[in-house]
Amino acid sequence: EKGGYDYFMLKEIAEQPKAVADTLLGRVDASGVLSLDEVRIDDTVLREATKVVIVACGTAFHAGMIAKYAIEHWTRIPCEVELASEFRYRDPILDPRTLVVAISQSGETMDTLMAVRHAREQGAKVLAVCNTNGSTIPRESDAVLYTHAGPEVAVASTKAFLTQLVACYLLALYLGQVRGTQWGDEIRAVVRELAGVGSQVEQVLGTMEPVRELARSLADKDTVLFLGRHVGYPVALEGALKLKELAYMHAEGFAAGELKHGPIALIEEGVPVVVVVPSPRGRSVLHGKIVSNIQEIRARGARTIVIAEEGDEAVVPYADHIVRIPRTPTLLQPLVSSVPLQVFACELATARGNEVDQPRNLAKSVTVE
Ligand code: F6R
Repeated sequence: EKGGYDYFMLKEIAEQPKAVADTLLGRVDASGVLSLDEVRIDDTVLREATKVVIVACGTAFHAGMIAKYAIEHWTRIPCEVELASEFRYRDPILDPRTLVVAISQSGETMDTLMAVRHAREQGAKVLAVCNTNGSTIPRESDAVLYTHAGPEVAVASTKAFLTQLVACYLLALYLGQVRGTQWGDEIRAVVRELAGVGSQVEQVLGTMEPVRELARSLADKDTVLFLGRHVGYPVALEGALKLKELAYMHAEGFAAGELKHGPIALIEEGVPVVVVVPSPRGRSVLHGKIVSNIQEIRARGARTIVIAEEGDEAVVPYADHIVRIPRTPTLLQPLVSSVPLQVFACELATARGNEVDQPRNLAKSVTVE
């Protein structure tokens, strides 16, 4: 059952290191080479694809947004990501060289299923990324890359999300591997890093008490905003979605670069703003920009909650609260940065007296359009 936890969600958050490791199992070898034989998609299809289109809903859509950064970076194949509910109604351009990737934990989400059917009718190849063996979406797809999160009971997705990310990284890296892009060395290095990510998630989970305490202190706030850049942007959206569905609070995620195009008007004294900070190593331009964003909002009264890598000292002067995450390659950061946001939302929901595993108005699997 709940294995000693008060809620399934807490249990599932705690299971993430194992879920991540299980999803990598048998797919990665020590020398950094990937094999996805069980997916049964012909490498020729992957080699000849001219475009990748990702379709998904909700949390799975956020995993897809992150996948886009990884796929385009490591493969140079153009990648679009679209809400499944919008996809087929806009007459999307698809052909046999389009690889459609449908991400779904349950494998039963009607919007995503309809997008899969539409894509196949147009002749595209469909690869499902799914957590539920034998469910409808994988059955109706050409191939399936299973995530091995185990059953997810809580309505709010946590461990399935992390494993969707792992599966998407594997797919991106595998596409890079079979297509032999310029990033061969980087791909092998990242594959090796992926193997250690489970223990980094474990490390994050061990440091969550201050996050819980902070969440409790915000229980009577009306609004929480989330900012991120690059892969931190979908993480910000996911953090906001978790808070909406669990804490029933007004929560919004923004790309930090959009602040001055409107959202900064929302900043007033005491508004909590969670900022997901990219690594100061790697894409350092992004880091500098987000540090000035934090500075800007704090000058306008925001209470800044900064999620930053260990050793990132540049954020310290502008952070009211700092949540430290381990160092990871830039593209993999969502695997560690989204964990504190799950804990944050879960604790806020509890503090507000909400039913964590069964939020109002929501169902675990949405089988109507
Ligand atoms: C949010 C959440 C939902 C699902 C969405 C897609 O925590 O769980 O947003 O991610 O309904 O569900 P699946 O992945 O089953 O297609």
